[in-house]
Amino acid sequence: MNGKILITARSFRKTPGRHLDILREAGYELIESPHDRPLTAAEIAPLLADVDAAILGLDEVTAESVAGASRLRVISRYGVGVDSIDIAAMTARGIVVTVTPGANSVAVAELTMGLILALARHIPYADREVRQGNWGRKTGVELSGATLGLIGLGRIGRDVARRAYAFGMAICYYDPFPPPPEAMAGFTARACSLEDLLAGSDFVSLHLPLSEETRNLIDAAALARMKPSAYLINTARGGLVDEQALYEALSSGRLAGAAFDAFAQEPPGDSPLLKLDNFIASPHAGSATAQTTLRMGLMASENALAVLRGERPDGVVNPAVFSRD
Ligand code: DGY
Repeated sequence: MNGKILITARSFRKTPGRHLDILREAGYELIESPHDRPLTAAEIAPLLADVDAAILGLDEVTAESVAGASRLRVISRYGVGVDSIDIAAMTARGIVVTVTPGANSVAVAELTMGLILALARHIPYADREVRQGNWGRKTGVELSGATLGLIGLGRIGRDVARRAYAFGMAICYYDPFPPPPEAMAGFTARACSLEDLLAGSDFVSLHLPLSEETRNLIDAAALARMKPSAYLINTARGGLVDEQALYEALSSGRLAGAAFDAFAQEPPGDSPLLKLDNFIASPHAGSATAQTTLRMGLMASENALAVLRGERPDGVVNPAVFSRD
């Protein structure tokens, strides 16, 4: 055996495929998470202490988690978000952190369109009605001609834009780091300020990372700027939205509806949002397609193996790790 690799994310562990085969073929023993949920910083520490690499879902990794991880060379995220990992602490310890850019953008974009349609046409309500023997029908709105405001126009935001454009939506976006024009093929979108986007959109969808700058970006003031007929969609990260303020906006009729695939606390427990008819919930399943599981899994495994071989894969988040003394 060459060493050990910790694997945590449930779909990565449970789905047979090349992503698992190449790790074993490279001579690594696979150590599985004991839980089917993200591990806390304390839970993951003893597991990281005994491995050379870790392929992780949304587990929390702090400086304390890696204090005893003397062999650990790489944390390969099975996904694109790194808000659950203390990147500066990993760099200081010489641990390379990688992600899988683009691997899940189609899956997340498709779920986003599904949630937009579910809100626009009240699909969960309709399903509940028919199952209960009723024939209740709520009048919806059409996407064609409606304005979609995208906060964040990275790979996922652009994949949403292409799909929404095909539905006939007008698209505006806010992104402090806008993509180059050549990355915007397949759709037309106009840049706007965050204030104008919030005030002018019928649907607002979040596609940005969670950081100290973006935490609670959608707070009570931002929600108050939105049209009362508007819908908010969050397939990015829970901490981007002040959920208490959202509850107040939705329950008072100040906002028409919202659909979330990501929550500040996951699972969201007894969040009051779950009691509202104009709120749709999904269990952080944006990447959960057969294709993305394999694509993202293979990329995560290749990233880990590349670092273990002494190479520098494309998805490195902390390149400074290679230039430390
Ligand atoms: C991501 O890519 O970070 C998704 O949330 C799945 O982990």
